[in-house]
Amino acid sequence: GHEEEIRALIGRMTVAEKLGQLQQLSWTGATGPGGSQTAAAEQAARKGELGSVLNIIGARHSNALQRIAVEESRLGIPLVFGLDVIHGFWTTFPIPLAQAAAFDPEVARVDGEVSAKEARSQGVHWTFAPMMDVTHEPRWGRIAESCGEDPYLTAAFAAAKTRGYQGSGPDSLKAKDRVAACAKHFVAYGGAEGGRDYNTVDVSESRLRNLYLPPFKAALDAGCATVMASFNTLSGIPAHANGHTLTEILKEDWEFDGVVVSDWNGVGELLPHGFAADGADAGRIALNAGVDMEMVSTHLAEHGARLLADGRIKEERLDDAVARVLRLKHALGLFADPYVREAQAVPGPTPETRRAAREAAARSMVLLKNEGGVLPIAPGKAVAVVGPFADSRDLHGTWAGPGGEKFPPVTVLHGIRDAAGRGARVTYGVGATKAADVVVVVVGEGVKLSGEAASRSDLGLPEGQEELIRAVAATGVPFVVVLLNGRPLTVGNWVDSASAVLEAWHPGIEGGNAVADVLFGRVNPGGKLPVSFPRTVGQIPVHYNHENTGRPYDPKSPGNTFVTGYLDVDRTPQFPFGYGLSYTTFEIGEPRASVTRIGAAELKRGERLEVEVSVRNTGEVAGDEVVQLYVHDPVASLVQPVRRLRGFERVALGAGESADVRFSLGAEDLGFWTNAVDGRFVVEPGRIELFVGSSSTAGASCTIEVS
Ligand code: IFM
Repeated sequence: GHEEEIRALIGRMTVAEKLGQLQQLSWTGATGPGGSQTAAAEQAARKGELGSVLNIIGARHSNALQRIAVEESRLGIPLVFGLDVIHGFWTTFPIPLAQAAAFDPEVARVDGEVSAKEARSQGVHWTFAPMMDVTHEPRWGRIAESCGEDPYLTAAFAAAKTRGYQGSGPDSLKAKDRVAACAKHFVAYGGAEGGRDYNTVDVSESRLRNLYLPPFKAALDAGCATVMASFNTLSGIPAHANGHTLTEILKEDWEFDGVVVSDWNGVGELLPHGFAADGADAGRIALNAGVDMEMVSTHLAEHGARLLADGRIKEERLDDAVARVLRLKHALGLFADPYVREAQAVPGPTPETRRAAREAAARSMVLLKNEGGVLPIAPGKAVAVVGPFADSRDLHGTWAGPGGEKFPPVTVLHGIRDAAGRGARVTYGVGATKAADVVVVVVGEGVKLSGEAASRSDLGLPEGQEELIRAVAATGVPFVVVLLNGRPLTVGNWVDSASAVLEAWHPGIEGGNAVADVLFGRVNPGGKLPVSFPRTVGQIPVHYNHENTGRPYDPKSPGNTFVTGYLDVDRTPQFPFGYGLSYTTFEIGEPRASVTRIGAAELKRGERLEVEVSVRNTGEVAGDEVVQLYVHDPVASLVQPVRRLRGFERVALGAGESADVRFSLGAEDLGFWTNAVDGRFVVEPGRIELFVGSSSTAGASCTIEVS
């Protein structure tokens, strides 16, 4: 590798140049409080006292700034340019929560690959994605960027997206169509109390390790080059000050040798957290905890020399942080070739990338209800399209890239008109509904209602939309509700009057076409919910992977009132994790395990067992089923979730076709992390229950014995 070159370079650097490598400034546009730092960044680059810039876009712009760093600074160290490329650069894919609903990590990999190619060609080396914060909080706006409530599903997507951005293999980042990924936010940001963004998180060591950490480990195993610290406190210690998570777990136990970047002013926020006395203190705490690069705030650059002179930070740790930054730049090939080819800058989406985005959006959609076969809409029907989002271009969702403004999405109305073809009777507007065979009501949340700092205390459809649905229901014409939203919603009573409900999320640039693909049956929906939909906000948290109380509800004694739950709402969610319908039907058989007994010691040595299950399309049309495997350890030294997803496969089957699906289970699937702070993973002897089916309420089961 480049370790010798890195050491030699560090040997030639002044303290100010070293501290400069740890500084990242924002060029234009603000993705946090405060303004642009354009002038300061240019000046620091010229002095060789800047490591990185975020929010710079465009091949020409980035080359111009790079030229200053490379040609005018003393050592000519190239800058690394970062940007939030979350679900697309030019070609906006569906939001990550939607992608998770596809239950097909390939969707995320393709998004990552398309995004990387577009972004890198425009001068971006590094994306602040994938976001992998597991959350049980639909009120939290950033659930839109997440993969929902399950660590296993999130881990699979985190790894796939990382591979999409970075490619695979030791030199993949040098390619001019790849970007470095960033596993964020480290860690447990999704645990924000009350779903209020940035809020307190207080978790046990076991919950940290079983629920929040696994996606990060998966992303790093896939080669993820960087990690971003999270805004929250973690059991009283801000994540940016948390040596246990940043250094002991991430850098020591997992041997991560990449960059830990702060979040926007995350080092500065140690002051309002009440954890640092002043800026110098904040810089000291963050660096010593394991932060390597400071985004936007400038405490290390300003106070680092004095901290070093006072012995409050050590040269060794400073050099380690610098080495990590230089390693990233080497991995990206920036020392060898710091510029991008301006003539080859990708100017926008192509027919192929649009096709990929359309397919991803259609694969992400979840059919929540379909009564009387109203969907798919048969040819020749008179369709009325209504609702505030029917002809809206507000379909990109949170964190759309630069393409969000430049390349607006296809509206649902447009998609429906196109799909219905010439001669079809499509009308737009509430006045048209009485003469229609079917009404499509397009409702949801605008982009500003989810994403960062966009938490909600009410999860109903925003103002006026439920009234609109009631008015449509009053006409007596069958109607389909299309939901365009960034989080689970409480659907309310209107769901009973709708013939069909399609969850289409924020579907991106080809959104309207993808909705039409599903409504007219060109695509048979096969997505599943990656997160439970609550019945009411008061029911939150409601998620499938909860633990049992000592007084769980027992259907065999419904008269027993001394059980956990609420008096005024059912104990189940409106729609559970893993749920989703199809235009066809499937039958999933009983799971068959390859062995009924396996030793804990063998499992720890790497032995695995196979679980096989058959699935058959019992309907009239081709379709996809997501076969899901859940495990439960009924007696353990740490109370276990009632179910944990440990396998899934999306299978495409023609009418009448069947297939066998095979899952492989090892120690990591059957054991768990204890509460030990130094990290202990155990596989305990005893019975393990396995459930297989089409959602988290899967009924078919078998047991195995760990001896
Ligand atoms: O990457 C983001 C992060 O997720 C939230 N704060 C701002 C960062 C940079 O834009």
